[in-house]
Amino acid sequence: RHPHIRLSADIYAPQRRNSAGVEFGDAAALAALTEKSAATPNRRWAAGETRTPRKIRSPIDGAVIGEVREASPADCTAAIDRAARAFPAWNARTIDARAAMLERTADAIEASRDLLVLLQLEGGKTLDDAVAEIREAVDFCRYYAAEARTSLTPQTLPGPTGETNVLRHRGRGVFLCISPWNFPLAIFLGQVSAALVAGNTVIAKPAEQTPLIAAEALRLLHAAGVPADVVQLVAGDGAVGASLVADRRVAGVAFTGSTEIAWKINRTLAAKNGPIVPLIAETGGINAMIVDSTALPEQVTDDVVTSAFRSAGQRCSALRLLCLQADIADHMLTMIEGATAELKLGDPRDASTHIGPVIDADARDHLARKIAAGRLRFRHPGKGVAGGTYVAPAILEIDTASDLTEEVFGPVLHVVRYRAGDLPRVIDAIAATGYGLTLGVHSRIAATAEKIAARLPHGNVYVNRNMIGAVVGTQPFGGSGLSGTGPKAGGPAYLHRFALEQTVTTNT
Ligand code: SER
Repeated sequence: RHPHIRLSADIYAPQRRNSAGVEFGDAAALAALTEKSAATPNRRWAAGETRTPRKIRSPIDGAVIGEVREASPADCTAAIDRAARAFPAWNARTIDARAAMLERTADAIEASRDLLVLLQLEGGKTLDDAVAEIREAVDFCRYYAAEARTSLTPQTLPGPTGETNVLRHRGRGVFLCISPWNFPLAIFLGQVSAALVAGNTVIAKPAEQTPLIAAEALRLLHAAGVPADVVQLVAGDGAVGASLVADRRVAGVAFTGSTEIAWKINRTLAAKNGPIVPLIAETGGINAMIVDSTALPEQVTDDVVTSAFRSAGQRCSALRLLCLQADIADHMLTMIEGATAELKLGDPRDASTHIGPVIDADARDHLARKIAAGRLRFRHPGKGVAGGTYVAPAILEIDTASDLTEEVFGPVLHVVRYRAGDLPRVIDAIAATGYGLTLGVHSRIAATAEKIAARLPHGNVYVNRNMIGAVVGTQPFGGSGLSGTGPKAGGPAYLHRFALEQTVTTNT
């Protein structure tokens, strides 16, 4: 069998289960969780090893929670030296040995208290978002371990009598993983675990806002048996990332972040005039949801509020542009605004909070400017905690779908009305953005949903449900066009992009 063409049973039911959740309605389970997430008083975290430390402040209230020592250009070179030297021995390890290390890491993440605390303190995550992120990180480690065991092991392919044909995989070399602050654990570990299990050594450059979570995750990888030089943390800002990308020894880059930075990385990789190496980029989107007059209003309300405002809108999958059929628009907006007003904005460590802070003051100020420049229809009255970086959810109206030309990364929803006969123009406007990440459709006419999905290139289409929270191994995640290169994270093709293929034909 060809390794890329497998039965769906292999893809969806490998010998692996996704992690279990927490029932928030169960008082004892919730009490155990809140106790686990209560920060140790005066605990300080640290990341990085050299240079003068920079303080890390929590977006919750501005308190100093730790410090990071960012890398110099010489540190970047030294880290890549070590990773390059460590590559042959790591690449020679069996897939089973590497996969077992990921599985031990997954167990340690599930048991970790510090990661839960840090996701809240450093990432500003609500308790349920922090739990969901830990589950996603665990699932990535176990999924890529299981995938490597099934699809990266050598395959004998059919061929003529008298020869054998074997397709096998190996690592590419030093892989650079540049991860974002919005999923500082799950995306960080998703990239790193895929690169490692495929046989690469890894330089991990986390977002400058969230190095402490990354440092803790790295500690667990090392404790699970991954040698120190095989996966190294290089902390710093965009300049550090740029200097790593420019190194000629980098054999591949996994990047999640903005489209602009993906372009820059692509240009730098091309300008080296060296080996043509893969860039796996996962970027943003102007994610739209189309709601026609047959949709179920209560379901739409719940799904819009969840998709636009959960995680303070700081997901690449989040809903940015709500397209409402004009006949139902006023009724729908009244319901959506009522539901939004019920959300609790505040300290994410309180289990009843729905919306925590945005990541930092720059994000808060940028969002405030975007809201001030728009036609405001609704604003949540919440203020958040003093000293923190909170943005109350806002709903802005625009006249046509093509008026929204950039992704606004936060709890800001743009709404447009369309007449039934104008649906093709709405679809064209969504296509014309050039992005293709998530797309929502609410319609009880199956043919309408199918027609919309078929006309658009979006990587993840959600029909009659919310459009966030893709599940590893169930909803492989990632887009096309300005939204990224693929292959999809948490899907069966992902690992192959991290590996070199070799076909060995032997005349017997
Ligand atoms: N994987 C995340 C989600 O589906 C992306 O931000 O919400």
